[in-house]
Amino acid sequence: MTTAGPSTVPRSFAARHPVDAEALYARAAADRLGFWAEQARHLAWDKPFTTVLDDTEAPFHRWFPDGTLNASANCLDRHVAAGLGDRVAYHWHGEEGETRTITYAGLLDEVQRFANALKGLGVTAGDVVGIHLPMIPEAVVAMLACARIGAVHNVVFGGFAPQAVGERMAACGARVLVTVDGARRKGRVTAVKQALDETLETLPGLEHVVVVGATGAPCPMRPGRDSWYGDLCAAAGPDCPAVPLPAEHPLFLLYSSGSTAAPKGIVHTTGGYLTGVTYTHRLVFDLDPDHDVWFCTADIGWITGHSYLVYGPLANGVTSVLFEGAPDHPHKGIWWELVERYGVTQLYTAPTAIRAAMSWGEELPGRHDLSSLRLLGSVGEPINPTAWHWYHRVIGGGRCPVVDTWWQTETGSIMIAPLPGTTAKPGSAARPLPGVSAALLDADGTPVTNGTGLLTLTQPWPSMLRTLHGDDERYLSTYFSRFGKETYVVGDAARLDEDGHFWILGRTDDVINVSGHRLSTAEMESAIAAHPAVADAAVVAVPDELTGQAVVAFVTPADGRAGDAALEAELREHISVRIGKLARPKRVVWTEALPKTRSGKIMRRLLRDLVTGRPTGDVTTLGEPAVMDALTAAVAHPAH
Ligand code: WTA
Repeated sequence: MTTAGPSTVPRSFAARHPVDAEALYARAAADRLGFWAEQARHLAWDKPFTTVLDDTEAPFHRWFPDGTLNASANCLDRHVAAGLGDRVAYHWHGEEGETRTITYAGLLDEVQRFANALKGLGVTAGDVVGIHLPMIPEAVVAMLACARIGAVHNVVFGGFAPQAVGERMAACGARVLVTVDGARRKGRVTAVKQALDETLETLPGLEHVVVVGATGAPCPMRPGRDSWYGDLCAAAGPDCPAVPLPAEHPLFLLYSSGSTAAPKGIVHTTGGYLTGVTYTHRLVFDLDPDHDVWFCTADIGWITGHSYLVYGPLANGVTSVLFEGAPDHPHKGIWWELVERYGVTQLYTAPTAIRAAMSWGEELPGRHDLSSLRLLGSVGEPINPTAWHWYHRVIGGGRCPVVDTWWQTETGSIMIAPLPGTTAKPGSAARPLPGVSAALLDADGTPVTNGTGLLTLTQPWPSMLRTLHGDDERYLSTYFSRFGKETYVVGDAARLDEDGHFWILGRTDDVINVSGHRLSTAEMESAIAAHPAVADAAVVAVPDELTGQAVVAFVTPADGRAGDAALEAELREHISVRIGKLARPKRVVWTEALPKTRSGKIMRRLLRDLVTGRPTGDVTTLGEPAVMDALTAAVAHPAH
């Protein structure tokens, strides 16, 4: 990682509503619980809390336990009551360019109707409702309607295959599933509900299926079980008061991705989660709810969509862009078209998307006026300095800070990120936010103050997961067994530099050990991606008799450059110079695309399966499953 070109986060909003970052750090350090209580009081509570944290059963923490509130009332009613009903909550932009403008008042109306519809189906507080929808406004409505009546939503990403949806519905015991007749993806329509039908038959606990009619795709309905969303809303009463709920009432379950074991049903609660997302969204992104237009490109089916497309932005009362489509449909400049059209002020996306845009060339963003942008966010994986600089220069016009935000499904909200007015180094997520305590530990649990170690969070925080659904034991063993119940083990390795800035190196399971030397996949990928002829890269380890493990690099060349022996030699030399001879790949496999989840994470597990000759495991979470065929051929028949 390089540390070139620090950028200072400007204080546009902070200038009007000064945020003194250093004072905030100091305030939180001096009185952590008092600080979190202040953040929680930005929300509207039906009954104010008197206890901030009950940690008597640690690590099963309870935040604001005697307070009551409702998440949907915090996202909608209080803004409408404050006279902001006409403010746009979402500019929805469909795949084919259709638009819908959804105001806070309009959203509140629809949420109330659908909440009444759910009640009509017998849903009560504590019941689990599955949601399996594409990026359409009804997905937000369904989530908030659940929150309104205390039902617990479990959103399963729209790209999951029927079997994966069924497994997650069975695991959480959902009584109702909200889905869609068909979903659009790059001009094609998939009949979602019809494809689910066979799996749904295997779920005895599932009483009702609600179907949003979005595309007119073939959709057989089973009488007694299936109903149309539109019919239910039309028949439902318009008023459904939000139910005050204890702060610790579960708001949602979300099954985490990317693990080789069975998916983990991460449980988030109402008061703590909402405090975390509202606070971080406002602070980290320098939010000015009265003027900003926020664009988070994450899918609603992942935690980034939950926290920064739904709950954070709505609780803060800002206007968002909600884009249904893929970043390259109908054309590869669509995001930049949307930025110009809606006057987007903050863009929050993932490094993989930035690298894809880089490979498509500067000319596409250059066709649009991006001058409304004033801050750029990044999440999901370490951002390599090359992508950071490109994002900063080409998208941000050199004026917008790039805010690298580190967090996880489990943490609920951003934990490590630079603050307005502070300095960020490209490739580093900077410091833990005020109120958050992180430490690096070595394998023995000794703190590392300047060097590499295991990232841990050493104090509870309001938006932390409370447990894994139905599996307290797994919660304890996954996160709190290694260093005790005071220390949450993140599962990432990181480096701490002399300024106290954290550099996330990647999952600890993505560390490659070559001849006894630990190399981070992230570091190698960043080095490879820094070569001008490279658009994207992933590295995996293969067993090697001599060195224990060896590196295989999967590389997408940039701008039409051919992957050939000459480029391979250049890359090997380049890595030697950047990291050392140890990190030189044993083999380079050229590929037009890498296998990625729809949320943009490279599925290295599949690449490892390919190069080690194992049958490839579950590919249902892949954004483009066809990528695997091309890769299988490339691995079997090297081009040279
Ligand atoms: C990785 C996504 C480096 C990390 C919000 C973490 C990051 C995992 C960053 C969580 C970042 C997320 N820099 N790595 N800014 N953000 N990660 O649960 O390995 O889908 O543990 O949550 O993504 O992924 P999850």
